Amino acid sequence: MLSEKIKNRLLMLQNTYLERRPDDVLKLRVWLDQFEQATQLEERKSIGITIESYLKDMAKAEERDAFIFQIIPEWHSSLYTWTQSDFFSHPTAIIDENAVIGDQTKIWHYSHIMSDSKMGTACNLGQNVVISPKVKLGNRVKIQNNVSLYTGVQCEDDVFIGPSAVFTNVLNPRSAIIRKSEFRETLIGKGASIGANATIVCGHRIGKFAFIAAGAVVTSEVPDYALMAGVPARQIGWMDAEGNRLFPDENGKAVSQSGINFQLEDGKLAEL
Ligand SMILES: CC(C)(COP(=O)(O)OP(=O)(O)OC[C@H]1O[C@@H](n2cnc3c(N)ncnc32)[C@H](O)[C@@H]1OP(=O)(O)O)[C@@H](O)C(=O)NCCC(=O)NCCS
Repeated sequence: MLSEKIKNRLLMLQNTYLERRPDDVLKLRVWLDQFEQATQLEERKSIGITIESYLKDMAKAEERDAFIFQIIPEWHSSLYTWTQSDFFSHPTAIIDENAVIGDQTKIWHYSHIMSDSKMGTACNLGQNVVISPKVKLGNRVKIQNNVSLYTGVQCEDDVFIGPSAVFTNVLNPRSAIIRKSEFRETLIGKGASIGANATIVCGHRIGKFAFIAAGAVVTSEVPDYALMAGVPARQIGWMDAEGNRLFPDENGKAVSQSGINFQLEDGKLAEL
């Protein structure tokens, strides 16, 4: 759960003081193990606070050792990330400082949540998922294995992203040219689903409850409830919030299996 950066710093600290303060280093090791293994929020919080005050005491005892002083604010901000809510992250997942993760969210093996990203409650991130800085996810977002969401991507509530779907944030990348200021945004609307292995070219909005078929390549705006398939993705129909096809009649009216009425007007489908 601890980021590589803070892990390395704590390791350096242990190596530096191992000979002079073996008991202290041993204590720190035990607490760090307990911290990493703690499954309950309260438990993690209390061990984290113990480690922080211990680091402060050690810095004082070592006459305000600059190296320890450098670790304390890092530990403090990490602690905020790791203890603010009751989420689960597998021990192999890496969560950077200042990432905000909502209650009941689960983050599985080898996933990496980068700084300043934010996700809501009850999200589920599979194996090998990368959430880049500043990416925002709503509540109940499900992301299957091997998906990287780059800076500029935002997902509203209840978005589903299938395995190995690909996102982009630069339209015309060239290795030799820095294009960080040209990131294009991609907004995935509430309840939308992205099929396995689909590619989303950046700079477009995918409408709410839209459905992107497996393997499609999205290169344009996607209307709400649209079913898109192919390369490049073309609209092949409409889908309701439950993932069933909608078939508007000649007057543009459609009724979902669960009895919800829709109206198609000017190429836009909306719930009545
Ligand atoms: C798009 C999808 C929902 C369509 O399912 P469906 O409504 O049962 O549609 P059908 O299988 O009857 O296919 C309708 C047409 O679309 C085509 N089609 C279906 N899926 C397609 C796809 N992924 N790409 C391109 N065309 C596709 C079919 O070949 C068929 O074409 P035709 O009318 O010319 O014969 C489904 O194929 C799909 O891609 N689901 C995503 C699955 C996924 O990625 N899950 C991730 C989690 S495991």
